Amino acid sequence: MKPGTVLISGASGGIGAATARAFADLGWQVLAGTRFPEKIPASGTIRPIRLDPASAQDRQALVELLAREFAGRLDVLVNNAGYAQSGALELLSEADWHHQMAVNLIAPALLTAALLPALRAAQGCIINVSSILGRTGFAWQGAYCASKFGLEGWSESLLLETQGQGVRVHLVEPGSTRSNFGRQMRMVDASASPYRVLAEKFAATRARLAQRAQAPERVAALIVRTATRPPAPFRQTIGRDARLTALLLRLLPAPAYLALSKALARRLFGLRAR
Ligand SMILES: NC(=O)c1ccc[n+]([C@@H]2O[C@H](COP(=O)([O-])OP(=O)(O)OC[C@H]3O[C@@H](n4cnc5c(N)ncnc54)[C@H](OP(=O)(O)O)[C@@H]3O)[C@@H](O)[C@H]2O)c1
Repeated sequence: MKPGTVLISGASGGIGAATARAFADLGWQVLAGTRFPEKIPASGTIRPIRLDPASAQDRQALVELLAREFAGRLDVLVNNAGYAQSGALELLSEADWHHQMAVNLIAPALLTAALLPALRAAQGCIINVSSILGRTGFAWQGAYCASKFGLEGWSESLLLETQGQGVRVHLVEPGSTRSNFGRQMRMVDASASPYRVLAEKFAATRARLAQRAQAPERVAALIVRTATRPPAPFRQTIGRDARLTALLLRLLPAPAYLALSKALARRLFGLRAR
């Protein structure tokens, strides 16, 4: 595929910034969507644009920009912006739930809907950055898992309903990746709750995983390959932890997978079997 125009949300750091650089290196015009355009220096073909995907005003401004300067066409949309709300179900507030869903699930759906005409005009491609936690539950990550399971649900439905329109839809599911993700993670206070030990062990597990995390450039390379070398699979995992989980999900019968997940959670988080 020859270089075209790509829009990436959440492009000021981590996987988004690495993806912007990778497309720019191939000569693509990169619209680097971010809530903080001042954080991204305009360089080469990378153009920072103000975009909070949850803002109707920002989405409309983007549609108008594409109509004005890009003949109403967009070749690739990468829905990458997201964060994790951590905490046990009963410790999360209503606001925690709404915000997690607004950012990770609803905003990318609304952004995609707004950009579908431009993507159709270019016979383009949508790449949604999910997570391996969009395929499996994980203690202390219920809201995040729910948001990514939901993202996977609407992505699969979109793939089905846009058949024949010439638009490709893909999911990329990273495992642990070096970025600002851990620092941006929102935590609940579990100190006076029955989850105190779990919360401490979760933090220790995350720190261990972070040491073995893959570089964001690996995820970026997969996103670029998916966009530029069709055909590509609908759903792709990246990272050793993600690939092992996907393999177990494929090979094990559901009850055996769940038993293994429960045993792992007991081991990681000091829980007791009952
Ligand atoms: N790192 C991992 O271990 C990992 C694993 C699996 C999946 N993922 C997924 O990969 C994607 C990119 O994450 P990353 O690892 O690159 O983390 P990151 O460095 O924290 O980047 C995430 C970007 O999302 C945007 N964002 C964060 N909170 C937001 C909010 N409340 N509203 C709007 N935008 C917000 C920010 O973009 P701006 O500040 O530029 O607007 C931020 O740069 C996310 O969807 C994440 O769920 C990450």
